[in-house]
Amino acid sequence: MRVSAPRSSSKKNPELMRLYQSVREASARLGAPLSEADATVQSMPDASPAKWHLAHTTWFFERMILEPNLAGYGVFDRAFNFLFNSYYESIGPRQARARRGMITRPALETIIAYRDHVDRAMASLLEDDLSPGVAALIELGCNHEQQHQELLLTDILHVFAQNPLYPAYKDPGPIAVGRTDDSPPSYRKFDGGVVEVGHVGQGFAFDCEGPRHRALIEPFELADRLITNAEWMDFMADGGYRTPLLWLSAGWATTQSEGWSAPLYWERRDERYWSMTLRGAQPVDPAAPVCHVSYFEADAFATWARRRLPTEFEWEHAAASEPIGGNFVESGRLRPAPAQAGEPGLRQIYGDVWEWTRSAFSPYPRFHPAEGAVGEYNGKFMCGQFVLRGGSCTTPQSHMRASYRNFFPPDARWQFSGLRLAGDL
Ligand SMILES: [Fe+2]
Repeated sequence: MRVSAPRSSSKKNPELMRLYQSVREASARLGAPLSEADATVQSMPDASPAKWHLAHTTWFFERMILEPNLAGYGVFDRAFNFLFNSYYESIGPRQARARRGMITRPALETIIAYRDHVDRAMASLLEDDLSPGVAALIELGCNHEQQHQELLLTDILHVFAQNPLYPAYKDPGPIAVGRTDDSPPSYRKFDGGVVEVGHVGQGFAFDCEGPRHRALIEPFELADRLITNAEWMDFMADGGYRTPLLWLSAGWATTQSEGWSAPLYWERRDERYWSMTLRGAQPVDPAAPVCHVSYFEADAFATWARRRLPTEFEWEHAAASEPIGGNFVESGRLRPAPAQAGEPGLRQIYGDVWEWTRSAFSPYPRFHPAEGAVGEYNGKFMCGQFVLRGGSCTTPQSHMRASYRNFFPPDARWQFSGLRLAGDL
């Protein structure tokens, strides 16, 4: 897949133009290693084809921003409104999610032409004086595309994991691990009280991160690193997957019906575990954080360890004073990294793996979805899902902040999801 996109600058909206171009170029780079077939196939209903991600993010700019706001804009292809609408009921009918892999045509080169078409029109729009509402929508479109960049990677990993040749998305060569620390975690203690949570400040945030409000937390402690593969293997060896008393009822039913006995992508070869990764099949690194576990498994592990998952407000309260940095997609590693010895603070709090919390994804006090179609973005998903915090090794770093709320159903395993333990004081 071709990488470069036309470059231009904007005198009126230089920062927004830079953001737009950097996000669009990052998507093209992520798609570059994929063949037409790689980008078209769909391995399960939850995972979309890479071609669909590249087209859908473009459709978002076309449908939500260009059509209503750029005079004389010519829609690239009317049929794309059906093919690449994701879940916007107010916009109309669409290709069923589970059948996105059937879209063998248009070809990938047509999707690239679609991206170029929309990029040129966006460059033209960005030459205008933009209302605050339109500027906010463009920023939303860029953050939306960053979310799909991570999904493109998680979804292509799921595709490649179905292939008996275990293809590597990226060169499988050795990765530096630094000064790995395999000592037990230490726990940082936090006072209880009324704390403020939710987005604050001028920067971008999704609607579900606000309004900022007060929350009551009890005294708690939080581990200074993530749970490792070695600890997960202890859980497995102790019968964790075979002990119903450790599990939520729905979790036990799921582990039985799905036959779970290890994290997703793990496979026993000879006397050791291997795992499918974006760098092909690799031996499981005992010191690296466990990854690709569901909420159900994370909760069972915490029960086995005689601790619990943090609430999202405990997590946010603890993380708010930590600098945002770590193993994000920009590191190029594309795998979670072991905790490093001698590092201060809450290690791995950002990057590496999304951390399951025990909090349901629900509206904050006084939350109201936005008017119009973008009101469907987050609000309508506030039922039956759990919040994950902190970002992963496939998240763009500029996309992350302490108030960020990711969410997935409790049986989801194909994201880069792991856990950090908390306890009551
Ligand atoms: Fe989307």
